[in-house]
Amino acid sequence: MIIAANWKMNLSRQNAGDLLKSYRDISADASASLITFVPACYLALAEDVLSKTSVQFGAQDCHAAEKGAFTGDISASMIADFGAGWVLCGHSERRQYHAETDNLIAEKMTQAAQSGLNAIFCVGESHEDRLSGASVDVVTRQLTTTLQHWQAARGGRSTQSLVIAYEPIWAIGTGLVASLEQISEMHAGVKACIAGLGITAPVLYGGSVKPDNAADIFALADVDGALVGGASLDAEGFSQIVAAAR
Ligand code: PGA
Repeated sequence: MIIAANWKMNLSRQNAGDLLKSYRDISADASASLITFVPACYLALAEDVLSKTSVQFGAQDCHAAEKGAFTGDISASMIADFGAGWVLCGHSERRQYHAETDNLIAEKMTQAAQSGLNAIFCVGESHEDRLSGASVDVVTRQLTTTLQHWQAARGGRSTQSLVIAYEPIWAIGTGLVASLEQISEMHAGVKACIAGLGITAPVLYGGSVKPDNAADIFALADVDGALVGGASLDAEGFSQIVAAAR
């Protein structure tokens, strides 16, 4: 099992340091692998607190280019330079607020792999897609467009890990969690879709994962862990989620 924490744009430097120290303690008893996605300005802090621990860390986005005139952006190699092993690609908030397309996400994943970063690639449908019965089609399109582009660009050379996160947009930060049946159906669909591309990867669920629903979600056959947003900011709640991942 993999439990990944997505802090988004939260926490002061002081609080970030304290939470990283709590993660260090949580990892001592954890059987799951822990990965934390910190705001980029806290990468040095994460490197400092998490070195010599089993908690891995990464950034929430990277640019698709290697370097250049991209004011305000951060490259994959800069992220790797801080000892980070991971980057999140294609989170729905990046798709929504930064107009990221399936192809751009593939370019970011390629750049990440070339810089030695592993990627968690996020997919998920909107509420309208869910209501109109288009969820499977939307997620299949996101997976195939991005992963085919990524496979072609990397030319089979990358040895970096790929993890998929299925995050229904309507369940992110809303307190609305997808039903166990909905999660099972989509995770089986994601695994079948990537198998058709010759890819095997763990598939995490994300969207209002909390201490009181984590164990039921982790018991589902095709769920390999969780990407946790809001609940990852509270050390006690996060430790309960990690404990549920046995
Ligand atoms: P949430 O966020 O757990 O707060 O719903 C999940 C995510 O956006 O990765």
